Amino acid sequence: MTKQTVILDCDPGLDDAVAILLALTSQENFDLAGITTVAGNVSLYHTYRNARALVELAGCPEVRVFEGCARAIMSEGARAEEVHGADGIGGVPLPAPTAPIEEQHAVDFIIETCRNAPDKGVTICPIGPMTNVALALIKAPDIKPKINEIVFMGGVAFGPGNTSPAAEFNIYADPHAAEIVIKSGIPQVMMGLDVTQQAIITEDRLRYFRELPSAVSHAVAEMLSAYRKMVIEKTGGARQGVLHDPCTIAYLIDPTIFEGEDYFVEVDCSSSANFGRTTVDGLAVTGQPANVKVMLNMNDQAFYDLLFDRISRIKK
Ligand code: BDR
Ligand code: CA
Repeated sequence: MTKQTVILDCDPGLDDAVAILLALTSQENFDLAGITTVAGNVSLYHTYRNARALVELAGCPEVRVFEGCARAIMSEGARAEEVHGADGIGGVPLPAPTAPIEEQHAVDFIIETCRNAPDKGVTICPIGPMTNVALALIKAPDIKPKINEIVFMGGVAFGPGNTSPAAEFNIYADPHAAEIVIKSGIPQVMMGLDVTQQAIITEDRLRYFRELPSAVSHAVAEMLSAYRKMVIEKTGGARQGVLHDPCTIAYLIDPTIFEGEDYFVEVDCSSSANFGRTTVDGLAVTGQPANVKVMLNMNDQAFYDLLFDRISRIKK
C-alpha cells in the first residue's frame, strides 16, 4: 500500500510543537509533504517562526514550512498567549532555522500538493484554526477527491468549551473556516476536547521526557512544563494541561488508540453565546447523514507510550 501524503496545518503553540515533533519522527508511517502555519495561539509571525525552529530542532531542515493566513476569514479570531506564552513556545529557546524561506503561500502549497497526488492520496491534519484549509477548498474545489481524510483537532461534542462555555479554541478562532471544511463532503475525523482532555500531562510523564538524554526531549520537557504551569495558573489548578494536537498524528499512526462514533456536526457561526460551537447531533434528531467521525475516548497511556517511543528516537 502506498503511504499517505500528510500536510500538518498548525499554529505552534506548545502542544502543536509536540505534534510537529511526533510527525517528524513518524515518517515511516506517512510522507510528511510539508507543514503549513496559520495565525491562532499567537500571531502568524510567531507560528511560522516556531514551526521553522522546531523542524531545525528535530534535525529535519529538509521538511518545508509554509506561511499561511494571518487572520480568520470573517471574525476577529482569538489568541491563547496565556497558555502558550507571548512567543507561542513558553519562552523556551529553540535553534535558529537554517532552511531558506518558502515563497509559496500555504494555501497554494496545499492546493499544489493535492493536485499532484492520486485520488485519496492526501490526509490533512489541521491543529489550529482551519483558515488555510478552508481557503484552499474555496480556491480549488477540484482538490476534494484528492483528500482522503481531514483529521482535525477542534470542537467539543458533549462537554463544555475551553474558550467560551460552548466553544473550543480552534473552532472559536475561525468558525466560518471550520464550517466550510466540515461541510466539504470530505471524510472528517474530529479530535475534540471530549477525547483530548484525556491526554493529561502528569508530572510522571514530564519526568520521562526530562530523563531522556537528547536535547530534543529536554526541549519537550521544558515546553510541556511551561505549558502545564500556565494552564494550572490560568485555571486555578482545575486543569493541568493536556496534549490536544498530537492526538491527530497519533491517530494517523495507530487509530486503535482512539474510539469514536459517526455523527452529523455543524458549526454555529451566528449566535453570540454559542459562537464557534460544534453542534453534534448525538441523538440523530436532525435526520441529517453523519459527516464526522467524532472521537470520544482514548487509551491515554498507549498514546504517551507512542509519543515517548518516537521522541526517544531523536538522538541529538
Ligand atoms: C487547541 O487550542 C490551542 O490552544 C491548542 O494548540 C489546540 O490546538 C485546544 O483547544
Ligand atoms: Ca494548535
